[in-house]
Amino acid sequence: MSCPEVTAEAVRVLKLISSKTDLNLDLASHDFGGAGIDNHGVPLPDSTLDACKSADAVLLGAVGGPKWGVGPVRPEQGLLKLRKELGLYANIRPANFASESLLAHSPLKPEIAKGTDIIVVRELIGGIYTATYSIPEIERITRVAAQCALAVDPPLAVHSVDKANVLATSRLWRKTVTALMEKEYPQLALDHHLVDSAAMLMVANPRKLNGVLVTENLFGDILSDESSVIPGSLGLLPSASLAGAPDANAIVMGLYEPYVSMLILHSRNKRLTANCPLFPSSIHGSAPDIAGKGFANPIGTILSAAMMLRYSLGKADAAELIERAVEKVLDGADKGGFDFRTRDLGGQRNTSEVGDKVLEVLEGMLSK
Ligand code: NAD
Ligand code: IPM
Ligand code: MN
Repeated sequence: MSCPEVTAEAVRVLKLISSKTDLNLDLASHDFGGAGIDNHGVPLPDSTLDACKSADAVLLGAVGGPKWGVGPVRPEQGLLKLRKELGLYANIRPANFASESLLAHSPLKPEIAKGTDIIVVRELIGGIYTATYSIPEIERITRVAAQCALAVDPPLAVHSVDKANVLATSRLWRKTVTALMEKEYPQLALDHHLVDSAAMLMVANPRKLNGVLVTENLFGDILSDESSVIPGSLGLLPSASLAGAPDANAIVMGLYEPYVSMLILHSRNKRLTANCPLFPSSIHGSAPDIAGKGFANPIGTILSAAMMLRYSLGKADAAELIERAVEKVLDGADKGGFDFRTRDLGGQRNTSEVGDKVLEVLEGMLSK
């Protein structure tokens, strides 16, 4: 079973933004993952791939689930192929507190979790998932990490994570990252961590990893799930997969997360071009243990839609409003006297009630 209910909430948010701005979105849904296998025999049907390639943005629904298991044809193969086909080598997964009020719910002690702000920059189409790394592949993801660090004033530190004490690819990774940073970004602080100790540090003293954590595909997959523990739920964190560095002035291409389908967004304005495909989705999977029950947390997917608006649709202002609306909704129990949290965050509300509240707050902000 999939978890389309979280995607539905992100789409409602996008539709609202579209109706209140000049964005003029045109949404279409395409089979992918399990739906691709069931309806077309393959997880990424050609028609879906073609639609993604010609779209301004694609929002992907999480794939996978017990129905398709780990047989020879798997939904996950579609996701890997789509990333490769769209050249989405840079996966940006920020882990921070969407609201300070989440501190009370973090499984870490508040004094340890407080102030954590880590942007995981994960290489997405190479490494152990496919084969090894080439120097240019390591250089381009390092540049993305450096540009993320420089997008903030003062610039962030860059932490590179590898397993250079064992793996030859990691030794190449470390050497390449070091040389490129010295040559092109000497102003940025850089340090190196072995992945096992970085995993420990992330829960023992996560602020030590504040900044940009750049790492290879598998380590980034694991560490980004781990980072979700800090603010308290995998259902909270957004994700963007890009063919270049994130840039608020760049283009469109997003994916979002019900396994059943994928939404392709076209902007009827034609202001947008698709030379920097983006692929946002929340970091979690299809949550088979809770999917369809109506209480999955939609916030990660809503925040992924915000990333899409910022980096792909030229609507950084709208993205910021969504982030503020989410913060207000999460703050509710503390500051507004209402509690609009799903049960992964200790609340009682269901998915659509949280979505309703985000929309209500957002509408109030948009009509000001
Ligand atoms: P998962 O991320 O689906 O779930 C892990 C845990 O987090 C579960 O307990 C789940 O209930 C919880 N969780 C996840 N999303 C949540 C949300 N929005 N609100 C509240 N709780 C949430 O990981 P899994 O169970 O290991 O994998 C399930 C399937 O998802 C697998 O087939 C996997 O390959 C796939 N997957 C797909 C994507 C993607 O398509 N982007 C990403 C990760 C995993
Ligand atoms: C993720 C997922 C995917 C990955 C799977 C579903 C192929 O875990 O996006 O984090 O391993 O990249
Ligand atoms: Mn993962």
